[in-house]
Amino acid sequence: MSEQDVLYQAAEGVATITLNRPKKYNALNSTVVKTLRELFRRAEEDRSVRVVVLTGAEEKAFAAGADISEFTNKNSSAVRPLTENGQELCRYIESMSKPVIAAINGFALGGGCEIAMACDIRYASSNARFGQPEINLGIMPGFGGTARLPRLVGLGIAKELVYTGEQIAADEAFRLGLVNKVFESVLALREGTMKLAKTLATKPGVAIKLAKQSLNKSWELPLEKSLKFEVDAFCQTFDTKDKEEGVDAFLSKRTPSFSHK
Ligand code: COA
Repeated sequence: MSEQDVLYQAAEGVATITLNRPKKYNALNSTVVKTLRELFRRAEEDRSVRVVVLTGAEEKAFAAGADISEFTNKNSSAVRPLTENGQELCRYIESMSKPVIAAINGFALGGGCEIAMACDIRYASSNARFGQPEINLGIMPGFGGTARLPRLVGLGIAKELVYTGEQIAADEAFRLGLVNKVFESVLALREGTMKLAKTLATKPGVAIKLAKQSLNKSWELPLEKSLKFEVDAFCQTFDTKDKEEGVDAFLSKRTPSFSHK
């Protein structure tokens, strides 16, 4: 892989990971998936990074899915590492302590849509298109799409999207709850994403981490267990310096300055 197939930049508490194979619509070959995993770990381990943004270079694609050129001459055992690594990447993004924003600047198909669904917040430009087109290749989603899509849009809509392989536009994705916000242009998307990222970077890191874990548990656990998890997480925030700072700032009528401890 060219080192430039995925770019990494960190500034002002925000790490930006950019898929950069625009001529291949940022198709996710196995090396790109591995590199993404390494770069997300780098962002997780860098204490100066508070928020991660994942996006695609230029204006055509976020990612048009797994790289189909890697599918030829592969049987079930040969393809297993691809799906396992893709799923592991998505699970890592979901389990990171920091918020991850997908800035979807074009096609988000197949694995591209699936990685976006593992991010915490999805912002899109109006030219973005979403879908799980695997069925048209005689295969099915393998980066967690059958698990996350129904949770986000409901089982019936997920089945229709997966069975037909049809693409949907950004405004339809917004209507279905697949994206949080749609911007009129890619430039507006990039500005809106950085504004959100910088806002989140000022929030107390431990509380963000615990809130993310608690919200994720609500997807995965029965209500009683997820409520119990929330009790424990809520209590933990009371042992942080940030809670002292936040409460004191409110009572003193000043803006809090969190140390993420
Ligand atoms: N894997 C490998 N290459 C891909 C790709 C993918 N998932 N998606 C796009 N590309 C490549 C094309 O082969 C083409 O490369 P080339 O110029 O060297 O021939 C280039 O990206 C542009 O794609 P093209 O199909 O010419 O553009 P388009 O605007 O006509 O169509 C898409 C765009 C995204 C609709 C179309 O490329 C597509 O359907 N891609 C596959 C999507 C998919 O099935 N994803 C799930 C994979 S499991």
